[in-house]
Amino acid sequence: MLNSIFHRLNVSRLGKVGFSTTSIYNQPKTAVLMLNMGGPETTDEVHDYLLRIMTDRDMIQLPVQGKLGPWIAQRRTPEVQKKYKEIGGGSPILKWTNTQGELMCKELDKISPETGPHKHYVGFRYVRPFTEDTLSEIERDKPERVVIFSQYPQYSCATSGSSFNSIYDHYKKNKLPSNIKFSVIDRWATHPLLVKVFAERIKAELIKFPEDKRKDVVLLFSAHSLPLKAVNRGDAYPSEVGASVEMVMKELVYSNPHCLAWQSKVGPLPWLEPATDDALKGYVKRGHKNFILVPIAFVNEHIETLHELDIEYCDELAKEIGVEQIKRAAAPNDHPIFIQALADVVATHLKSNKLINPKFLIRCPLCVNPRCSESKGWYKHICQSAI
Ligand code: FES
Repeated sequence: MLNSIFHRLNVSRLGKVGFSTTSIYNQPKTAVLMLNMGGPETTDEVHDYLLRIMTDRDMIQLPVQGKLGPWIAQRRTPEVQKKYKEIGGGSPILKWTNTQGELMCKELDKISPETGPHKHYVGFRYVRPFTEDTLSEIERDKPERVVIFSQYPQYSCATSGSSFNSIYDHYKKNKLPSNIKFSVIDRWATHPLLVKVFAERIKAELIKFPEDKRKDVVLLFSAHSLPLKAVNRGDAYPSEVGASVEMVMKELVYSNPHCLAWQSKVGPLPWLEPATDDALKGYVKRGHKNFILVPIAFVNEHIETLHELDIEYCDELAKEIGVEQIKRAAAPNDHPIFIQALADVVATHLKSNKLINPKFLIRCPLCVNPRCSESKGWYKHICQSAI
């Protein structure tokens, strides 16, 4: 009893200072490091979060980035803080990732007891718990294996790639523990259970439309956009997002008209289009009145779903352009099928002899970032020398 109260106290204290909010008493055999960009938990963290994004050259390349990045971060802080205030004061991404990780590990202990106990860790790129701090925490726990599991199902060098590069950076400065076997799950865009959970989320919204209108509801899949510069270097993201959309539609037996659009563009340079808001306007002009927005590249709610999709598009824009009815499919969050998906991705990976995906090891055909070359060489070395 006392132990459990003490544990709960520590969970909340450690959570506040930014470490992974998981049990610190169980020694895991397998650590699952869940990588994501993260989001500010309070409006006070917004500036530093934006600063880290704007100065990360894997994420965004700006001229004189050392000066321009901090300037943009400073300028955008009040506007972004206002948006976080409007969704309740902060990002729920840490809460969701911890819930997903805890449930995933419970499931893994059941379906893969030979690799248990499993323990999840959260590694964020731009806010606490930072990946670098979490790696130190994992080392203290001394697991036999560490599975580095990207929480971006579709791979982009700007997001997943940046997180993987940060692990490489950490071990450039710190000694790699020799007794831990590392392996990588870099993408899982077409996993059948991931596809199924998106289909379930869509069906749960479709049922809310009047029966006579249901089959004409446009499913507007929306993913974070990417600069065309990155796309033209050969970034896999657009094709992997397209693959997810196609599989979800197949699961739904192509029940409705659908389209893929791209949201959250920043700055004046060209990005992937059509933008989600332009797609909505275009469809309304062409006589479509009912929509479901589907955040196909987000596994949990954050500002892009709660503010951009829910407030800016489903509420404000929909009223302005005369949409009849619009719904937004929930992100996978803690849907039981999604938890099974996470556990299955990891269990299948653990059972296989593959520690790394050959696709991960090859650079974009027109990559100009020397860090990618160094980082991929390092992953090849650590994963292959462990076989
Ligand atoms: Fe894709 Fe470097 S930008 S590997």
